[in-house]
Amino acid sequence: MTELQGKKILITGGAGQITYSLIPLLLSGGIFGDNMIDLNLLDIDLCKDKLEGVKMEINDSNFSHLNNLIITTDVKTGFKDIDVAILLGGFPREKGMLRKDLLEKNFMIFKEHGMALENYASKDVKVLVVANPANTNCWIADKFSPSIPSNNFTCLTYLDQERLRNLISKKYKISYNDIKNVIIWGNHSNTQVPDISYINQKNIELTDDDIKIIQTRGASVIEKRGISSALSAAQAIKKHLSDWFNGTNELVSLGVKSNGEFNIPKDIFISLPVTTNNFDYKIQENFEINNKVEQLLAISIKELKEEIEIVKKLLN
Ligand code: LMR
Repeated sequence: MTELQGKKILITGGAGQITYSLIPLLLSGGIFGDNMIDLNLLDIDLCKDKLEGVKMEINDSNFSHLNNLIITTDVKTGFKDIDVAILLGGFPREKGMLRKDLLEKNFMIFKEHGMALENYASKDVKVLVVANPANTNCWIADKFSPSIPSNNFTCLTYLDQERLRNLISKKYKISYNDIKNVIIWGNHSNTQVPDISYINQKNIELTDDDIKIIQTRGASVIEKRGISSALSAAQAIKKHLSDWFNGTNELVSLGVKSNGEFNIPKDIFISLPVTTNNFDYKIQENFEINNKVEQLLAISIKELKEEIEIVKKLLN
């Protein structure tokens, strides 16, 4: 008999595009093994009706792994006793908005959600931040939940890694299933650093144009769709959570807190190569970073540090 006591999962931005693509992946089983899922969808008051509509659709879908569904606009109800938080809710970048403006808007949201993690979530809650600027939002949420270990916090760069695998797959006509150990370093932004130095395939090259394509892929999707990627983001979230929970011997790219590995400054959330096991991860340090990657990574680290400096001014 299937165990009904399962994982309690919160998705913020519950009425949004990524959530809509993620729900079937989450509730059809697999990500968390056979665990049944208690799903909380949280969104802002403005999205109350949309949440109701999503609830109707979830009910009508009779998903095999859904045990209980709560839709709410109340933060406490949303975060109560959760085991996993998937933080998709953030202020989107609007026309003419500077990166700094976006950081300030999202600071308030991630401060509130960090405090809610601290006050209401399970002390062992695992957190995945997706809303942009994801790395710095992750830093903020971690800062405001001091009793939750920092290595319970991750942010999404699996999407960038999948984009890189796809580019190589198409360019060299290799199945993406046979492409392993590609790495994304840095910020989830156009300074990110795709790296194939440790790929399991021979004679693969990444040109400057290829690097640009990966760095700007999110913007290219927005340009064509008019809105941010959702389908591919949901798929990447599935893979990130599944690998983190179930473990993998393959190298994967997760945004995690730096402890000074590779001479990267401490106290930033940065995409690094890791292996995972049972909702834990281990940063793989046995890599030599080549000169080109090192130079590009320095730019991404500088950007991350600047973002955190902006946010630190808001802390007081
Ligand atoms: C993506 O990588 O598709 C998004 O993070 C882009 C964005 O700015 O929303």
